[in-house]
Amino acid sequence: LFSAVTLAPRDPILGLNEAFNSDPRRGKINLGVGVYFDEGGRIPLLQATCKAQQSLLATPAAPGYLPIDGLPAYNQCVQHLLFGEKSELLQAQRVVTCQALGGTGALKIGADFLKTLLPDAVVAISDPSWENHRALFGGAGFKVQGYRYYDAQSQGVDLAGMLEDLRALPPRSIVLLHACCHNPTGVDLDADDWQVLISLIKERDLVPFLDMAYQGFAQGIYEDAEVVRLLAGSGLTFLLASSFSKSFSLYGERIGALSLVCASSGEAERVRSQIKRVIRGNYSNPPIHGAALVSTVLGSAELSALWQQELTQMRGRICAMRQMLAARLGEQVSGRDFSFITRQRGMFSYSGLSAQQVDRLRDEFAIYAVGSGRICMAALNHSNLEQVVSAIAKVL
Ligand code: LMR
Repeated sequence: LFSAVTLAPRDPILGLNEAFNSDPRRGKINLGVGVYFDEGGRIPLLQATCKAQQSLLATPAAPGYLPIDGLPAYNQCVQHLLFGEKSELLQAQRVVTCQALGGTGALKIGADFLKTLLPDAVVAISDPSWENHRALFGGAGFKVQGYRYYDAQSQGVDLAGMLEDLRALPPRSIVLLHACCHNPTGVDLDADDWQVLISLIKERDLVPFLDMAYQGFAQGIYEDAEVVRLLAGSGLTFLLASSFSKSFSLYGERIGALSLVCASSGEAERVRSQIKRVIRGNYSNPPIHGAALVSTVLGSAELSALWQQELTQMRGRICAMRQMLAARLGEQVSGRDFSFITRQRGMFSYSGLSAQQVDRLRDEFAIYAVGSGRICMAALNHSNLEQVVSAIAKVL
């Protein structure tokens, strides 16, 4: 049965973890995966989640099955965070939110559902995009193509190119958009750009699918959801995959959500019934613990404020590392401007390192980065920064 199975290549991001973990060299540094590490190089256990954990342990209960679409209290907290507690869409019951296995799980449920509605649609993803987008939508049976996004010259968004490519898509194509902290470039659209884009989406009858895995890592929870509010106000129907992996430091809990904005409450009811079928046929119903933690935090004013403080600290530490990396590289590498590192947002810097330079970083200096040149700023700290600076200066 399996004799003809060929060896698959390692995953371009998570495969780096495997290679990193089996690398015996001392002092190795992993700037590959998008995970926030604290100044001590550890994944932080947030105080807010720790306190939520304690309160859950105070009243232990057997983990019965959750509803197919997840913990209701959790889904409601997610909606408030994404759309705002006073959102007209929520009041009109036009939003379906289902707990999902991280942001990836949310994308997968959305992709499988869309395949039943738009079997021949093209899915357009930014060039470049998160490595898994292509695999995920391709795996759901869609034709996936890129639209222009990053302009290497200006180190910003190629808005004109992006609009031109999107305008050329057939109506009812699905457009995958990064809501904030674009992965891998760290380069985002501003509010005016979003408005132009939303007009085009309307005019061309495209289907927006937002991916928001880094809410809170650009400017703040509220600020980073601006595009959600803009789309909500546009009258369009759309999908939104969100995740608490990074913002709650709950990577291994696989806790995210898929939200679908529908035209009416009746439509929402029908959509929810179909999404539940997709989930049931995939993994039946989601696990309980991550949802219980997040809803305990977000359901308490005190814990929620504590969480926001901790998130602000994470964001601040990443910004400080950006400043330091840019400044030290500027000192070490003459004739080059590294200020772009400080303008990029979220966890990553799209460093401009070539695939060969990334290979050299790994082979000669035991520093791991994604082949696209993406480096995780959240893995830098005062102890490893000089080692990274000196290695990058050498390969440049
Ligand atoms: C990343 O981009 O590194 C993270 O989102 C982790 C992943 O699943 O790829």
